[in-house]
Amino acid sequence: MSTIKHVAIIMDGNGRWAQSRAHTRVWGHIRGSSIVSDIVEEADDLGLKALTLYAFSTENWSRPFNEVTTLFSLLKKFLLKEKERIIKNRIRFRVIGDYSNLPEGTQSIITELEDLTKDFKGLKLTFAFGYGGRNEIVHAVNQYIQANPGQKIDEAQLGERLFAPEAGDVDLLIRTGGDQRISNFLLWQCAYAELYFSETKWPEFNRSEFRSILETCANRERRFGNVKAIASLDETSKVAQTNKKKFGLGRV
Ligand code: IPE
Ligand code: IPE
Ligand code: MG
Repeated sequence: MSTIKHVAIIMDGNGRWAQSRAHTRVWGHIRGSSIVSDIVEEADDLGLKALTLYAFSTENWSRPFNEVTTLFSLLKKFLLKEKERIIKNRIRFRVIGDYSNLPEGTQSIITELEDLTKDFKGLKLTFAFGYGGRNEIVHAVNQYIQANPGQKIDEAQLGERLFAPEAGDVDLLIRTGGDQRISNFLLWQCAYAELYFSETKWPEFNRSEFRSILETCANRERRFGNVKAIASLDETSKVAQTNKKKFGLGRV
């Protein structure tokens, strides 16, 4: 069975795709947003447990006003168009990040859909909007300090305080658009993610490329620091703990 359960995607390349065709960047976002539903459906069909999509970063606030407002309205359109399908397919929907600057109407669509789907056991679909990985970690630490003044936080306690802890570690991070960087996405959750960088600009990404990336990456051997394939980071930590005691090396 594939060890890929949670896929995260940096949907990049809309602007360059449009500009290379003598269109505005905004047009690239419109075209890019139109393929999101296909990818969500494919993830669901493939039986993935979680799909997290990077739609707007904390850094994207620095973009021109019309680009930012277009991205807001495309998110709203997507939610209105997909609401029924999300519910029908028992998808658990979440938005992570600070979206308090979105128009109130969009915020209430988000909270309503999150609430309606919170007990669903299907695909965990998360949109990262107004999201930054550093911000998420700082938020988790601050929340812990407030509830436990003067105490040290450990990895499990931090993990529980992330914005969508139920999605868990990322197994595969895909970035379209040709650049090879993380751009402040899921920094904690990607500790041991497989990375895949596609040259395809997001508006041209499609189901078949998605499927073939998953097939390619499912065959990668994930060792999590061991010398042989291992199932997960949790599994490797358990082995490491037992070994530390068993080897009993103490201070050498
Ligand atoms: C990704 O496409 C969408 C967002 C960042 C919101 P870009 O707008 O970054 O497109 P490029 O990378 O400039 O081509
Ligand atoms: C990352 O893409 C953010 C999203 C896809 C939402 P960017 O285009 O903002 O990232 P950089 O600026 O190339 O790092
Ligand atoms: Mg970009």
